Amino acid sequence: MKSLLWAFWYILPAYFANASPVLVGGGKPIDGGKTWKDGRRILGDGKTWRGFIGGVAIGTAVGAIQYFVTPHFYGSANTAILLAFALSFGALFGDLVGSFFKRRANLPRGHPAIGLDQLGFLISALAFAYPIKTLDSGQIIFLLVISPFIHWGANYFAYKMGWKSVPW
Ligand code: CTP
Ligand code: MG
Repeated sequence: MKSLLWAFWYILPAYFANASPVLVGGGKPIDGGKTWKDGRRILGDGKTWRGFIGGVAIGTAVGAIQYFVTPHFYGSANTAILLAFALSFGALFGDLVGSFFKRRANLPRGHPAIGLDQLGFLISALAFAYPIKTLDSGQIIFLLVISPFIHWGANYFAYKMGWKSVPW
């Protein structure tokens, strides 16, 4: 039980990084408005520099706060911040890869892609964080199971708050 709580604590920067672009995003799209060989947008207007950089900054800041709450879990402030940066960068990089595949599948911006939307960012975050601090397989399975529910809950909340036009 305790180890599952630690898994949740470990992944928090990735959740924050993935959720914050809804609030801090907007402006210039990362793909610069360009299209791929198939004539469709490379990533689309839903992936912006402000969202990406803001999300990485917020996720990394969460890690700095976490270090003050549980320093023994990280060992050093450097580890805590580096881990949070890797989780946040990984989450938002995975989010871009997901959008790239959504556009190739001809899904418009904001269209749901079950599985990809809920787990793509998580798997990418775990992969980027792997060299810094790892979880055991039980903890990873736990995160794979709970993350879709947290993702749906957070999106529904953002929709109810009027931050998002669709509840997914
Ligand atoms: N967002 C952003 N920059 C990012 C990621 C997200 O500005 N790098 C903002 C956009 O306003 C986006 C919103 O956060 O519409 C929700 O993110 P997400 O659900 O990932 O994007 P979608 O609009 O659903 O686009 P896609 O179909 O490409 O997933
Ligand atoms: Mg979406």
